[in-house]
Amino acid sequence: ANCSECLIMDIPEKMQGVMVKNGAGTAQDMFLDSVDVPSITPSQILVKISATAINRADTLQRQGKYPVPAGATKIMGLEFAGTVASLGSECSKYKVGDRVFGLLGGGGYAEYVAVEEGHVLPIPDEVTDVTAAGFPEGYITAFQALFWIGGISTTDRDANAKKMVLIHAGASGVSTSGIQLCKLAGVGTIITTAGSKEKLEMTKKLGADFAINYKEEDFAARVAEITEGKGVSVLIDYIGQSYWKKNLDSIGLDGKIVILGFLSGPVLPEGSSIAPILRKRVTITGSTLRSRSDQYKTDLIKDLWEFAGKAFSHGCLRVIIHKELPLSEVCESHRMMEANE
Ligand SMILES: NC(=O)c1ccc[n+]([C@@H]2O[C@H](COP(=O)([O-])OP(=O)(O)OC[C@H]3O[C@@H](n4cnc5c(N)ncnc54)[C@H](OP(=O)(O)O)[C@@H]3O)[C@@H](O)[C@H]2O)c1
Repeated sequence: ANCSECLIMDIPEKMQGVMVKNGAGTAQDMFLDSVDVPSITPSQILVKISATAINRADTLQRQGKYPVPAGATKIMGLEFAGTVASLGSECSKYKVGDRVFGLLGGGGYAEYVAVEEGHVLPIPDEVTDVTAAGFPEGYITAFQALFWIGGISTTDRDANAKKMVLIHAGASGVSTSGIQLCKLAGVGTIITTAGSKEKLEMTKKLGADFAINYKEEDFAARVAEITEGKGVSVLIDYIGQSYWKKNLDSIGLDGKIVILGFLSGPVLPEGSSIAPILRKRVTITGSTLRSRSDQYKTDLIKDLWEFAGKAFSHGCLRVIIHKELPLSEVCESHRMMEANE
């Protein structure tokens, strides 16, 4: 039996987990299967999952376009909230029954998941499991890109006040997190792009100073106007091909471009020039969070939590939830994400 006093939880041998027919396919090819409950290593915690979240990376993985890192489970799902069900012998921070949330290399679309203790955080009392489940992937990715790579400071608000940041796909999970982290850090000018009026309004509510509809306006021309020709100091891009030239037009002297995806394609348009990279002394860095080492992720999560944990507990950092669905409706959740809803 489950007993919170004796810290024992019944753990079944089998669980429900989302699989894809023949390993890759459409949203409709996902189905709930009976699979083994994962076993844990000494540094891992087994969590009974109460909520997970959908990320663009999941839809790419499902299509067979995002190879799973070596050793990771084939079950999708990069984040979770739940309760600790059992602990590896080296784990000391949590006890059975604690509410936790965290980052995964995979395995979130299931009833149980094994996760490194260092990738887990305690769910603040004021925060629901559903909200907590939507925090890790977006916030950790955005923090890594803007702060660890992009050079925004967690402490020097005066330096941040002089920075101008351009974050594309402003209403995406990563960008809604990034906008709020920039605001929290006191970044001087936050500019976003998005494809609809509703999305632009939402980014402004979250703290963007300027929101540009990339379908109706030339975002590079608007950025030049907003920054008085100086260009931005940090630019976060997931679009790639179709934004390449405009991104180089929008970046300022000594600016940093962080590439996290290529939703419009990875191949540069014919005639692309690298001259602005040299003339503006631009640093371009690509990054993937998922393939980082366990220790890197542990350090990153710790740094983010020290900077932003209190604000999240206080409800000052929001997780934007488009819709809540049961795991059995996972196909519909992928359909909505792929329709850019
Ligand atoms: N490298 C990493 O470590 C890492 C980690 C996490 C996520 N990512 C990447 O970050 C990106 C955002 O992820 P997410 O889960 O937050 O995404 P999301 O919530 O699904 O949002 C993505 C948004 O991008 C916009 N978009 C899609 N195709 C576009 C195109 N061709 N041109 C312009 N805009 C386009 C759409 O918004 P509009 O309606 O405004 O067009 C869409 O809603 C994805 O590319 C994902 O793979 C990378």
